[in-house]
Amino acid sequence: MKKINIMNGPQNVSAIIQGCMRMPALTKEEAAKVIRTAYDEGVNFFDHATCYGENGAAETRFAEGFPLTGLKREDIVIQSKCGLCFDRNEFDWTKENILSSVDDSLRRLNIEYLDTLLLHRPDVLYDPEEVAEAFDVLEKSGKVRCFGVSNLVPMQIELLKKYVRQPLVINQVQLSLDQSQLIDQALYMNNKTTEFSINRDGNALDYCRLNDITIQAWSPLQVGMFGGTFIDNPDYPELNRVLGELAERENVSKAAIAIAWILRHPAKMQAIIGSMNPEHIKEICAAADVELSHHDWYALYLASGKYLP
Ligand SMILES: NC(=O)c1ccc[n+]([C@@H]2O[C@H](COP(=O)([O-])OP(=O)(O)OC[C@H]3O[C@@H](n4cnc5c(N)ncnc54)[C@H](OP(=O)(O)O)[C@@H]3O)[C@@H](O)[C@H]2O)c1
Repeated sequence: MKKINIMNGPQNVSAIIQGCMRMPALTKEEAAKVIRTAYDEGVNFFDHATCYGENGAAETRFAEGFPLTGLKREDIVIQSKCGLCFDRNEFDWTKENILSSVDDSLRRLNIEYLDTLLLHRPDVLYDPEEVAEAFDVLEKSGKVRCFGVSNLVPMQIELLKKYVRQPLVINQVQLSLDQSQLIDQALYMNNKTTEFSINRDGNALDYCRLNDITIQAWSPLQVGMFGGTFIDNPDYPELNRVLGELAERENVSKAAIAIAWILRHPAKMQAIIGSMNPEHIKEICAAADVELSHHDWYALYLASGKYLP
């Protein structure tokens, strides 16, 4: 498994992260199988959020399964996210909510500390001074080792940075061959004839690279927000043709090629996979050993429905 170092954050972490959003549907034995399979394939980074499953069910299931894996807490990096409160229909970055969310995550996960805590989607009513106070409390108490964000544009990160003392080391954003807006806008810069040129994120990719913020790509196989996968999807014939050709050449699955496309980018991103199927997880992890060429990368990009301007 390819490993990366997160600047000012966890070192020697896997380029592929196992996302746990879909874990509430599993039994504890199945959860253990997912965790152990991912670990055996070289994944040492697991992503959670307080909002994954009712009452944080993903974190609970993870903790129920973890003792069955034979792994120790220090073997893995555990990340959670807070601020997205579906139960209350609001986003909440108040100091009170950040602190109580971390306590809830630690209790559910049955651990003493989070390696990384991300603020999930932006709470437009947030007060950055309150966030700074919350981060100080969490750092001093040892409950959180590193901090980051998810789905934030550069100016939102800049505003936070004005108040928060700890480095923000991660920005978790959507990126897949289908949802490639993070990359499109710069390529189509200024082009009035296509929506691909619309700047939807304030140049988040370049900003993160300039500021040593590691990008974590969520839903790397999904269409739209959660429209199912494009793998073997008849609506994506050309993409599947090229994925299939490269998969055959590299002797891996199409899903592995789609993940290798993200890992090929020089920004050294991590890809967060969401499969709960151990066979799929094994197949995808082979992506870390695939070296796509410059030409392969563009061939996949074009097959996903874009063109060169
Ligand atoms: N920060 C955010 O706002 C945000 C938002 C969404 C997600 N996330 C994070 O990103 C993680 C991944 O999201 P995701 O689950 O949408 O990612 P994904 O890896 O793009 O999609 C996984 C889904 O695709 C299915 N799938 C179908 N064919 C597959 C194949 N051949 N190989 C692999 N999977 C296949 C999986 O089913 P099987 O289980 O049957 O394999 C699973 O339901 C989440 O767990 C979460 O940690 C973050």
